Amino acid sequence: MKIVHTIADLRRELAFFRDARESIGFVCTMGALHQGHQSLIKTARMNAKRVVASIFVNPLQFSDKKDFEKYTNVLGRDAALLESVGTALLFAPSSVTEMYGDGFQSAVEVGDLSKPFEGVDRPGHFRGVSTVVAMLLNLVQPEFAVFGEKDFQQLRVVEQVVADLKIPVRIMRGPTIREEGGLAMSSRNSRLSAQGLERARAISRGLFIARDAFAGGNREGSFLRSLVIEALRLEPGIEISYVALVDERTLKELDVAAAPCRMLAAATIEGVRLIDNIALI
Ligand code: PAF
Repeated sequence: MKIVHTIADLRRELAFFRDARESIGFVCTMGALHQGHQSLIKTARMNAKRVVASIFVNPLQFSDKKDFEKYTNVLGRDAALLESVGTALLFAPSSVTEMYGDGFQSAVEVGDLSKPFEGVDRPGHFRGVSTVVAMLLNLVQPEFAVFGEKDFQQLRVVEQVVADLKIPVRIMRGPTIREEGGLAMSSRNSRLSAQGLERARAISRGLFIARDAFAGGNREGSFLRSLVIEALRLEPGIEISYVALVDERTLKELDVAAAPCRMLAAATIEGVRLIDNIALI
């Protein structure tokens, strides 16, 4: 695997793939990689000759500067993980200036999809995500890019950006990878104590209960939501941000569950904010 740190080097390496008419799949990340990312790379690898990955901790998407500063940087370990699953090229910009230059003034902003849920709790977050993703897709110009369903609102926002701006790329969805016990894999899980991890399992537990109730014929939104809330309330020390039943495409809240829809949940445990979701199909 080749690692490049500048846009010029990235373009040069990509040109070799293009000259050889090799298809390119792309996975963008902020590092601190885990099995969830590994699975995205594997999906890309199955569908393209060359997998390009990026690691860039994007300051634009952090509403809390401290959160940005304490973001884990383990490039050596991440690079080894990416290589082990067949990544051909890693773009890890050497600095924020390498990505944004000095006079950066532009932004990509999605409307309704960005506003609720994570948009409420993390103002400006999706503006930062949309801007950097549009830029990365522009730089790499892959045939497709894989985004995880775990960050479902982000996935929908990215799909909307690509559709609205007519970016010639296919967005593929990667399934949420879960630890034993159901907790969705996230870089943030490593900040939890053993007790915190145990408590955090209540999120997926609640979502699975709602999914099973839906499969059993329950359609009432308030009832399905209450199942998740109840599972979270049974554990001490969990602060719920939201639990919402939404239309899979618009992310508008539903009173009555009608497939395809999703149950979204966000909660804070030991100061760590976790999100998860489940498809009700
Ligand atoms: O999900 C992430 O890691 C980031 O939001 C992304 C998509 C790499 C953009 O910085």
